[in-house]
Amino acid sequence: MKIVILENADAVAAYGAEIFKRQLADKNDSVLGLATGSTPLALYRKLIDANKQKQISFSKASTFNLDEYLGLDGNHPQSYRHFMNEQLFDHIDIKLDNTHTPNGAAENPLQAGDEYEQLIKSGGGIDIQLLGIGRNGHVGFNEPSSCLSSRTRVKTLTQATIEDNARFFSADEYQPHLSITMGIGTIMEARQVVLLATGESKADAIKATVEGPLSASCPASALQMHLSTTLIIDESAASKLADKAFYKHIERENQILLERLGM
Ligand code: F6R
Repeated sequence: MKIVILENADAVAAYGAEIFKRQLADKNDSVLGLATGSTPLALYRKLIDANKQKQISFSKASTFNLDEYLGLDGNHPQSYRHFMNEQLFDHIDIKLDNTHTPNGAAENPLQAGDEYEQLIKSGGGIDIQLLGIGRNGHVGFNEPSSCLSSRTRVKTLTQATIEDNARFFSADEYQPHLSITMGIGTIMEARQVVLLATGESKADAIKATVEGPLSASCPASALQMHLSTTLIIDESAASKLADKAFYKHIERENQILLERLGM
């Protein structure tokens, strides 16, 4: 796991955006795995700017989002499909037909999971997966106790996640408590994973992800087994890491090596 600790949320977004820009520059038909929530928003704004300035193009790219609320169709203002349109897809040169979210309105949600897996497979698999992390260590909506080799399926949200996400809903609005989410096994098959975390509220989850045991109690800890994961976190999210100084030291050493190799 590569751990990059930066001074603030803006630096985290900038670093993450550079990785996605490089990915698109190297492979314009990249398959991007995307996330919703607050954390990726600043990164999406940077990608929109880069697209407007013609530094990158999404015209050949395709996307797969991690998750969707069960019971909401894509036109619902609270659906993650709607969120993605508003926050990213409507502002870039991507073909909407090439953007995918699990079908929250599927008649048979159990089947919808398998169909999503099939779609990812026929798209060639995910090149790079963006993740946020829940306070309880969830990635996607894989809550604690999720099977670490799970595939896209229906998952029940914990009370903590429902409360964390309540900020997006008005008091009298229906808030779903079921989701359809890529599994940990699905995420682990992405060729590259980039996880962003900012703020004190994520410090326990980051500690458990990096320094805790590999355990379904912290689903993100499965990333310890992934061959190419980068954690980009700010000082607050890193504040409970016991070996923070060592992780920074590794990054400085990596930097020196890359410069020596002219990369
Ligand atoms: C979103 C998702 C979730 C969020 C996580 C953090 O698609 O899958 O795992 O990444 O709940 O959310 P924020 O970024 O709002 O703190």
